Amino acid sequence: MSQDKAAVFRSPVSQNIVWHSHALDRKQRETVNGHSALVIWFTGLSGSGKSTLAGALEQALFSQGIKTYLLDGDNLRHGLCSDLGFSDTDRQENIRRVGEVSKLMVDAGLVVLTAFISPNRTERQKIRELMEVGQFIEVHVDTPLEICEARDPKGLYKKARAGELSNFTGIDAVYEAPEYPDIYLNGSQPVETSVEKLLLALKSYGIQPA
Ligand code: ADX
Repeated sequence: MSQDKAAVFRSPVSQNIVWHSHALDRKQRETVNGHSALVIWFTGLSGSGKSTLAGALEQALFSQGIKTYLLDGDNLRHGLCSDLGFSDTDRQENIRRVGEVSKLMVDAGLVVLTAFISPNRTERQKIRELMEVGQFIEVHVDTPLEICEARDPKGLYKKARAGELSNFTGIDAVYEAPEYPDIYLNGSQPVETSVEKLLLALKSYGIQPA
């Protein structure tokens, strides 16, 4: 990324800082790894299957020798994002941090898989713009609310319906589905079917066994 673009997207508070371009760049790492570096961004309701699918895809890619790392919403909220809740502002900050971390990992030559509800189109678009063209692959895990609620793996929908949890996505907080996802997945189909679809689609992004 050029210095100008870095300034536009990051709007640093500090003024007296200078962007350093290092000799070793992403392209060299991609060459050594034998595949492109990019982020596969899963978005969907809680319980839609994002983490399961991202985990299954990561295993498949890893077994093909591809260098991967998975960032998961619930997990990051135990550490990097442990100071954030579920207000609009906190979710925006959550997604901003994940975008920045993803960008660093892409720069390190990895295929990054992210599993966050990431309910707002605008925030997802910002991440797309943070990356280079073709580096952000938005995957919509489309599972109807009724099915997510019936699955309710963590019992959170039940709590939200009982009024014990507020700002719950799909109940009293909005989810904006992608209008033009790069990859669309029907969240009701078997995991293996979705993983096959993903692996096939990823070939056109330069992700295949070396
Ligand atoms: S996001 O909206 O900021 O992208 P994120 O993916 O990090 O959310 O976290 C979502 C997970 O947090 C859910 O899968 C669920 O386990 C848990 N959670 C707890 N409270 C809420 C809530 N109010 N809305 C949605 N998810 C919640």
